[in-house]
Amino acid sequence: MTKEKRNRAWYGKQDRDGFIHRSWMKNQGFPDHAFDGRPIIGICNTWSELTPCNSGLRDLAEGVKRGVWEAGGFPVEFPVMSLGETQMKPTAMLFRNLLAMDVEESIRAYGIDGVVLLGGCDKTTPGQLMGAASVDLPTIVVSSGPMLNGKFKGKDIGSGTDVWKFSEAVRAGDMTLKDFMNAESGMSRSKGVCMTMGTASTMASVVEAMGMSLPTNAALPAVDARRMALSHMTGKRIVEMVEEDLKLSQVMTRAAFENAILANAAVGGSTNAVIHLLAIAGRVGIDLSLDDFEIGTDIPLLVNCMPSGKYLMEDFCYAGGMPVVLSELKDKLRPAKTVLGGDIMAYADGAECYNDDVIRPFDNPLKPAAGLRVLRGNLAPNGAIVKPSAATEALLEHEGEAYVFENIEDMKANIDREDLPVTADTILVLKGCGPKGYPGMPEVGNMPIPAKLVKEGVRDMVRVSDARMSGTAFGTVVLHVSPEANAGGNLALVKTGDRVRLSASKGALDLLVSDAVLAERRAAWQPDAPHYTRGYAKMYVDTVLQADKGADLDFLVGKDTRPVTRESH
Ligand code: FES
Repeated sequence: MTKEKRNRAWYGKQDRDGFIHRSWMKNQGFPDHAFDGRPIIGICNTWSELTPCNSGLRDLAEGVKRGVWEAGGFPVEFPVMSLGETQMKPTAMLFRNLLAMDVEESIRAYGIDGVVLLGGCDKTTPGQLMGAASVDLPTIVVSSGPMLNGKFKGKDIGSGTDVWKFSEAVRAGDMTLKDFMNAESGMSRSKGVCMTMGTASTMASVVEAMGMSLPTNAALPAVDARRMALSHMTGKRIVEMVEEDLKLSQVMTRAAFENAILANAAVGGSTNAVIHLLAIAGRVGIDLSLDDFEIGTDIPLLVNCMPSGKYLMEDFCYAGGMPVVLSELKDKLRPAKTVLGGDIMAYADGAECYNDDVIRPFDNPLKPAAGLRVLRGNLAPNGAIVKPSAATEALLEHEGEAYVFENIEDMKANIDREDLPVTADTILVLKGCGPKGYPGMPEVGNMPIPAKLVKEGVRDMVRVSDARMSGTAFGTVVLHVSPEANAGGNLALVKTGDRVRLSASKGALDLLVSDAVLAERRAAWQPDAPHYTRGYAKMYVDTVLQADKGADLDFLVGKDTRPVTRESH
């Protein structure tokens, strides 16, 4: 016997409450039979003109609706907070957990049976998945899809990655301001997310590898008609998932998270995937830790996309996309159920690679071991990470003197000073950019190379911070140092002139200062006074977990799947 649908608690009653729930919905012209017990599908949309990467989601929602109606369901689209990575201040990450709260409460409070998450820009996919995981209905993701390749002077240019390069070239005097401005217009040529393997495409890729979207979702360009067709098919499938009672938690299993880690390594994915996967796992109730990311360490880099390689997402799509990557990883992937009800390896069925320079075979990779490295040591007792595929190999084993910036203002004010006492061997250290410190853990870990060194031709240095880094960025950048400086981590105690040692091969990050000296410095250390004293930002600073726990708010970890009553709230 089919289980009674969740929506019956809203629309199944022949009484005053049922009248109210149905009658007000009928003001949109929905007929009686829309409320006859068929699956009601929420389309959770992060469309916004202030989130340009998600500006195509209105169209995709219509595609999902077509599929839902076709399959005998009733689609209802609703908005949630949208997070425009390039537009929000102080940083979009501050609001990821607020989006997650919005998504969770919207799904729970309304009479829907299943949900399609429409997201794309960096924080929208994880924020939506975190919120949906805490309610645990049947759920599928449809992503915005990447922009078309950027173009400048007849050549391809990539979102983010080339901005960092152009900006350094202007600072070095190698690029005119006029060219810089022209590149700005050629970079973003269509709706969609960054077309490098930045955080948005990384999250879409790992979501596909987890079986939480239909196959090919990650790489189809935003404006490709096949993305509309994929939305339509997703609408059809979510209705079936409701009938099958196939919930998010049956797809987002530990095996699926492990597949996400493996896929993240193979695509050269963003360091941000770490913090987001940890937070999503916390919502589902899976005890994922930084150590689990070590299963990806020896996975080769297969996808030759910026920032780790040279191509862009459009090329990745035409080469075959994620089904080819999954096929290449076939001996590594864990058996795991997908939203289609079968095993993840079914996503690789019939996959053919059409350009083996864009997607390399497993035995001829771009780099042999591409997974993120987890670092520990007295400078990061709870962990830090570095992305070897985007780093300078020689710098991954490096010891040098620290030059310390106490906060972002200090860094911005002094980085280009001609008398800054730094050399190419210096290790730049930035404090005050963790979850509590900034607050919101911005993408500033790839601090600029000091101007005087840029002029000498230096393009990379070891940089260490409690910040994050854009998924489009590159360099030998140690990130997510935990505990952060503002939580009293040893990072707070580093002084200019201290020696720091990084060994990616040993997974070590050490401050070469004795315990006795550190104890003296700790006794004199005072935390900064909080500069957010009201509203959501205060709640965030008071309750945010450290990066090694996913930077969720402590009271949002886990889920509540009880029927909605006054007592359950
Ligand atoms: Fe939105 Fe890159 S800024 S995806």
